Amino acid sequence: MKKVMVYKRFERFWHWLQALLIILLALTGFDIHYAQLHLFDFHMAHQIHQVCAWSFIVLVAFAIFWHITTGEWKQYIPTRKYVGAMIQFYLVGIFKNAPHPVKKTLISKLNPLQKLVYLGLKILIIPVMVTTGLMLIYYNELLAAGYNLSLGVLATIHTIGAFGLMVFLAGHIYLITTGHTPMSNLKAMITGYEELDENDTQPTESVANQA
Ligand code: HEM
Repeated sequence: MKKVMVYKRFERFWHWLQALLIILLALTGFDIHYAQLHLFDFHMAHQIHQVCAWSFIVLVAFAIFWHITTGEWKQYIPTRKYVGAMIQFYLVGIFKNAPHPVKKTLISKLNPLQKLVYLGLKILIIPVMVTTGLMLIYYNELLAAGYNLSLGVLATIHTIGAFGLMVFLAGHIYLITTGHTPMSNLKAMITGYEELDENDTQPTESVANQA
């Protein structure tokens, strides 16, 4: 085992700012949707939502650029291999102290299940949120340009996406605690360093036997 830099500085900055923005967008968005929540006054919720939304869009643009230029986008190439083993591990194995089916390495930081979920987030939920959000911001301009869109439908799709993000967030927070110690994943995303078997790209024996 060796302490290695797994999450680079930009990656950690992007991760934590994205988390903060999504939480603020959710708090203000659900406050707008459910008036009875009354976490902020309506005008304030609207202002914070707009500022966070534009910040989020800028951050996403920088993150896309960073992923392309560093080659880190390859981390998200999905694979069907070991997805079943990962689901079995999270549902059963984890409670019996079974070994992690796939080892984390520098060239493969995400397990197959994470690859699928994060890819879904990046190519489906975030684009849906940004597109419907921008359509809500420019709703009047779109109407004037002849696009006869339903405000209700746009807001409903946007809200369904928001619930999807909340489900992801809940699962993500739980999975953070399932590293080799309950805090190891969280510490790695704060400091950047994690103890890894640097050269190990092989699945552990338990899964190699199942495959
Ligand atoms: C980044 C892109 C986003 C943009 C451009 C955007 C924009 C908007 C706009 C313009 C509205 C209408 C209310 C208002 O005028 O402020 C809205 C509502 C809302 N947003 Fe967002 N938003 C984005 C991301 C998010 C995210 C990430 C979440 C949740 C995690 C979220 C949750 C909501 C909810 C729940 C509503 C209430 C919808 C309704 O009226 O029923 N938004 N958003």
